[in-house]
Amino acid sequence: MEPSYAPTSSLNIFLVLPKAELHRHLEGSLRIETMLDIAREHGLTVPVSILRLAGLVQIGDDEPYNFTNFLEKFKTLRLFYRSSEVIERVTREAVEDAARDNVRYMELRFTPVALSRVENFPLQDVMSWVCDSANKTAKKFGIDVKLIASVNRHESPEMAEQVAQLAVDMKDKGIVGLDIAGNENDFPAKPFAPIFREAKEAGLKTTVHAGEWGGAENVREAIEILGADRIGHGVRVLEDENVVALAKERGTVFEVCPTSNHQSGVVPELEKHPLAKMIESGLITTINTDDPSISRISLTSEFQMASEKLGLSMLALKKQTLNAVNAAFVSEEERERLVKEFKKGLE
Ligand code: ADE
Ligand code: ZN
Repeated sequence: MEPSYAPTSSLNIFLVLPKAELHRHLEGSLRIETMLDIAREHGLTVPVSILRLAGLVQIGDDEPYNFTNFLEKFKTLRLFYRSSEVIERVTREAVEDAARDNVRYMELRFTPVALSRVENFPLQDVMSWVCDSANKTAKKFGIDVKLIASVNRHESPEMAEQVAQLAVDMKDKGIVGLDIAGNENDFPAKPFAPIFREAKEAGLKTTVHAGEWGGAENVREAIEILGADRIGHGVRVLEDENVVALAKERGTVFEVCPTSNHQSGVVPELEKHPLAKMIESGLITTINTDDPSISRISLTSEFQMASEKLGLSMLALKKQTLNAVNAAFVSEEERERLVKEFKKGLE
């Protein structure tokens, strides 16, 4: 399948820009060719032609854009996590693909429960494989990569607590944050609040998928009850000016993923995506891919799309990158270094 938004000129000014990504799921970043290799090696009962497999794990142009369809892709993807080698390989390739896209700083989030499920791998092992592989590849390509452990709203808080504890234990392996994702409408985030509070006390930063499938009230819940440092998506915050005011007062940062919002049905027309309005309202926003492989995008193509379809100027795009670096889950010392490097690269 062709990328959904391919560069139109041979010199891609958006590729040349150094970029920072705060919201990318490992499970949404698998190369399709790698999936074919894994399917063949492990005798998976999935189609072994690129075209037919792509239909199962990527969003095509002519399929329904809604959450059920979007999340269905993750169910198929879970079949692929068959060995430590597979998990190390997909992590390595996700970091390599980011580096080749000139992403100079990336927080890669991963869902230990999803990666461990088919083979019943211990969560701790899975988390170590991801961290070690990401760190090794980041070093090889000379980029900065941090990790965020993600839990799902539809899994139990007990499971989330285990993941959070392991994430705290693995801070020295580059885990910097805790995230919650999944179905916002049927599963409230509140039961996870004590876990998020404890994780923060133990030195992790937190981000919460909210205001995507659910309304602005979920953004308020994420900020006030869970104490989120950043919000995943949050595009529906504009539905309530009081929540906009709250986010501004707290300096909450929004990890906006425009194409993902379109493909999941949150934003029926991409051209009407509210990113520009969020910026105008004075919210702190960043541009992200969410699931580049599922959506058939890269951060470069997303920047180009934001320029051509959402009307962001080059200055505004560069500001989005600096916002990301300023909101990175790193020490003040590391931030200073990153900000300096990015400012120089963006000149
Ligand atoms: N998990 C992966 N992508 C997601 C999204 N866009 N919303 C909620 N959960 C997700
Ligand atoms: Zn996400």
